[in-house]
Amino acid sequence: MNTKEQILTKVANREAKLGVVGLGYVGLPLSVAFAQAGVAVIGIDIDQKKVNMLNSGQSYVEDVPDTDLAPLIKNGCFRASADFADLVLVDAIAICLPTPLGETKDPDISFIINATDQIAHYGATGKLVVLESTTYPGTTEEVILPRLSNNGDQVGRDFFLAFSPERIDPGRTDYNMFNTPKVIGGTTPDCLEVALALYGTVVQNPIPVSSTATAEMVKLLENTFRAVNIGLVNEIALMCDKLGLDVWEVVGAAATKPYGFMPFYPGPGLGGHCIPVDPHYLSWKLRTLNYTARFIELAHDINSHMPDYVVEKVALGLNEDRKAINGSKVLVLGVAYKPNIGDVRESPAIDVIDLLEERGAEVTYHDPYVEKLVAAGISFHSIKLTQEALEQADCVVIVTNHADYDWDFITEHAGLIVDSRNAIKNASKSRVVRL
Ligand SMILES: NC(=O)c1ccc[n+]([C@@H]2O[C@H](COP(=O)([O-])OP(=O)(O)OC[C@H]3O[C@@H](n4cnc5c(N)ncnc54)[C@H](O)[C@@H]3O)[C@@H](O)[C@H]2O)c1
Repeated sequence: MNTKEQILTKVANREAKLGVVGLGYVGLPLSVAFAQAGVAVIGIDIDQKKVNMLNSGQSYVEDVPDTDLAPLIKNGCFRASADFADLVLVDAIAICLPTPLGETKDPDISFIINATDQIAHYGATGKLVVLESTTYPGTTEEVILPRLSNNGDQVGRDFFLAFSPERIDPGRTDYNMFNTPKVIGGTTPDCLEVALALYGTVVQNPIPVSSTATAEMVKLLENTFRAVNIGLVNEIALMCDKLGLDVWEVVGAAATKPYGFMPFYPGPGLGGHCIPVDPHYLSWKLRTLNYTARFIELAHDINSHMPDYVVEKVALGLNEDRKAINGSKVLVLGVAYKPNIGDVRESPAIDVIDLLEERGAEVTYHDPYVEKLVAAGISFHSIKLTQEALEQADCVVIVTNHADYDWDFITEHAGLIVDSRNAIKNASKSRVVRL
């Protein structure tokens, strides 16, 4: 049996072991999905605290309840480790590491490089390696392939390499790892075949594409599509403001068109680890080819100014009450980057708080999912959302419309509300300023 046949046989017999490198929002749900399908999974993470928590059956990712994790630890289908040497035990490796931006908004792929060097050190021979991190087209072939074939191994014969972007949407329950189609590109046709076989054990609908770079570009198209459309509707909000129109009414009515229109909604800016970051990976790559990604640059310009626009609305609202931002008590509701989760990465709430603090406001916040937050160099703690807290605020700013918020209670007791999410349908006693 050649190497491909060996790994395909193991996958078919559910004997293939999977290593998942990086046990965060992507890697942990992936590990659990495979383990639940009967694949033995070893998760590798450099954070010993996370490793200890997981091995004691405790999850730190909202989408993975302890009731899913604990039985898998108990029956030995999943274990976490901080030791890359454990990768010698596995047949396939999925890399789910962060791909942030550097200070100059250039891609920082150092996590991927370091992990690949570790994988090469412990040997990729006979294994399938799949990159799941979002990155610029060309990363798998230009960065990972040379490191894994440095020892003379040939890709597609001695080891297998693929890219498969993660589409997980934290907090979402209707689409999960099993029923979300998964795009997969291989370095060679045999790499693709092996990757399709592995993912076929958990994913109902694997989507093969012709190359790893195509799969990398698919992910960037998906997230650039969102960033650009959010940029467009944010600009429509600015235009509606000038025209004296209600942007929410405009978008809502346009959305009644049964074809050819997909509603996007304005807001306080982009957040999360994906939408504000990923398009920069694409524009950076294009800059190296002497091409300017114009839509991406324009959308970034508009989206990144939305927190200023929200703060301007606060200033206008306070002005009507003959107050300045300086010295006013501003209560921010919701600091997670989207509803019903506790992730604050790149959250526009941080920018809004920075700007309010810069202008002298006394800021507090409440978020049912986020206990602590560092913004404007200050360590904040979520306050209790009481009648008193609402009454004492000169302005309440809604940044994230978590489903648990009782808007009737809020409008009953708050004076001025700046609502950046169209969360308030019935203003009751409050004066509401919408985006
Ligand atoms: N979070 C999402 O919703 C989402 C969705 C789709 C794609 N992605 C992409 O998936 C990738 C991973 O994102 P994430 O949100 O899971 O990140 P994350 O920060 O939640 O998790 C990364 C994990 O890797 C660990 N880690 C860091 N360096 C390591 C190393 N050298 N070796 C081993 N472990 C290490 C960290 O401790 C952390 O647990 C990124 O490229 C991201 O853009 C994320």
